[in-house]
Amino acid sequence: MRHILAASSVLTPLAIAFALTVQPAQAAGGNVANGKKVFQANCATCHGSEATKKPVLSNAANFWKGEFKRTKGVEANVAKIVEKGGAGYGGGASAQMPAWGFLSAGDRKDVVAYVLQFKKK
Ligand code: HEC
Repeated sequence: MRHILAASSVLTPLAIAFALTVQPAQAAGGNVANGKKVFQANCATCHGSEATKKPVLSNAANFWKGEFKRTKGVEANVAKIVEKGGAGYGGGASAQMPAWGFLSAGDRKDVVAYVLQFKKK
């Protein structure tokens, strides 16, 4: 019994340290702070911003309500519609959503992480 207790008192801090180091990397894998800048510069004109919390273009997805009708909030789908736009995404998505493939891969990853924060859990 004694040695079991000793082992768990060593393992518990290790498990906590592991969980702390692993979790941030899993959070859609992008830099949310940079994603916010990218969003303000390129996306807020249609999707609105945290300040107003509603889309400017009425049919643009309302992230402020956690709206991800097209992509279901699946990271790979969100990344695809951001890179290829509504037309390139297919499935009848509106071509009013432009393609952002010209942004750097890093900026796209960050903006995806930014919008996914608003997905309803
Ligand atoms: C010119 C207006 C416009 C701009 C600018 C724009 N979008 Fe969109 N976006 C739309 C519209 C309209 C839709 C809705 C497409 C549909 O559902 O048919 C959309 C849909 C989306 C979706 C899909 C949401 C869902 O339903 O799952 C994502 C993600 C998205 N936009 C991200 C972005 C990002 C990130 C940027 C900036 C890099 C951006 N958009 C810039 C108009 C725009």
